[in-house]
Amino acid sequence: MTTMESLIGLVNRIQMACTALGDYGGGGDNTFSSLWDALPSVAVVGGQSSGKSSVLESIVGRDFLPRGSGIVTRRPLVLQLHKTEDGQQEYAEFSHLPRRRFTDFSMVRKEISDETDRITGKTKQISPVPIHLSIYSPNVVNLTLVDLPGLTKVAVEGQPDSVVQDIENMVRSYVEKPNSIILAISPANQDIATSDAIKLSREVDPMGERTFGVLTKLDLMDKGTNALDVLEGRAYRLQQPWVGIVNRSQADINKNVDMIAARRNEREYFATSPDYGHLASKMGSEYLAKLLSKHLESVIRARIPSITSLINKSIDELESEMDHLGRPVAVDAGAQLYTILELCRAFDRIFKEHLDGGRSGGDR
Ligand code: GDP
Ligand code: NA
Ligand code: MG
Repeated sequence: MTTMESLIGLVNRIQMACTALGDYGGGGDNTFSSLWDALPSVAVVGGQSSGKSSVLESIVGRDFLPRGSGIVTRRPLVLQLHKTEDGQQEYAEFSHLPRRRFTDFSMVRKEISDETDRITGKTKQISPVPIHLSIYSPNVVNLTLVDLPGLTKVAVEGQPDSVVQDIENMVRSYVEKPNSIILAISPANQDIATSDAIKLSREVDPMGERTFGVLTKLDLMDKGTNALDVLEGRAYRLQQPWVGIVNRSQADINKNVDMIAARRNEREYFATSPDYGHLASKMGSEYLAKLLSKHLESVIRARIPSITSLINKSIDELESEMDHLGRPVAVDAGAQLYTILELCRAFDRIFKEHLDGGRSGGDR
């Protein structure tokens, strides 16, 4: 693993430990919440059924999310990808089931649905209480992604009238943070001017500095039309390039078309497209995943000085807190603090060894 991969991996694990600490009531407005806020994550925003969950799955390269027409994603899913050494077995773990390792990803999908229902019931209701899922795999990049319910315009049967505003507020709470990278998903078979994703991201990121425009469903556009105006940045300009995507259709999902076949079909679609052939190397889910991880790396690189000083502050606070508690043995808030302390120390050590030539010790 490269130094940057190790550092981002540690940032990821610190973020996760801070979350677990929050679950013990240790969150709130303290060093750990500012640590969390200093660390970037990617939030997926868009209208209902625009393809958000499908795009996330493609980025991860695994089938594990509930997808389909109508409101499927009803709680935020905070998904942490942890890159492991080559040859390790892939597995997933939920923070609400800390001792269970999932190696069958269809069971992950089932658990997400079941855990959603545990809070909301088998209804169309939504809840802002996030589900935390970690995936450990040699085939992922270190990344924190958040899947969110889709923005809607009207409440449907079984939903309170407030649902439209509730969803918008929930989504906004993730994307308004300056550390949030916005994956704004718009379907190509609708006019971009009506895109919920663009409307909300423009509000919270008016300069388009942290918004990645993603255009799904290119395969579903009317014959004789194309999306070049959007993909080439003329319809709505962002600092980052637009990426076009072809996910699996509902028919593909019903036929159990797997991820490998889906990616192959997507590559073929772009390579052979008369409209997009010239853009083929900058289109598709795999390219989007690389673009995101490169961006994330540059964001973290730029923030390393502030993350390092926060981490040093955390180490100091944690050390004095540990002095009070003594070394904890059980899985409790104390153990979480200890974990964070160890991770912070590791970050500090790797940072000093590799990126800073050992010259950053002076500010502690
Ligand atoms: P979400 O509600 O935004 O999370 O959207 P989903 O990922 O659940 O997808 C909604 C529906 O649209 C599913 O039936 C998908 O199969 C379908 N879909 C998503 N993206 C594409 C695409 O690029 N092409 C086609 N043909 N169907 C898509
Ligand atoms: Na959907
Ligand atoms: Mg979804």
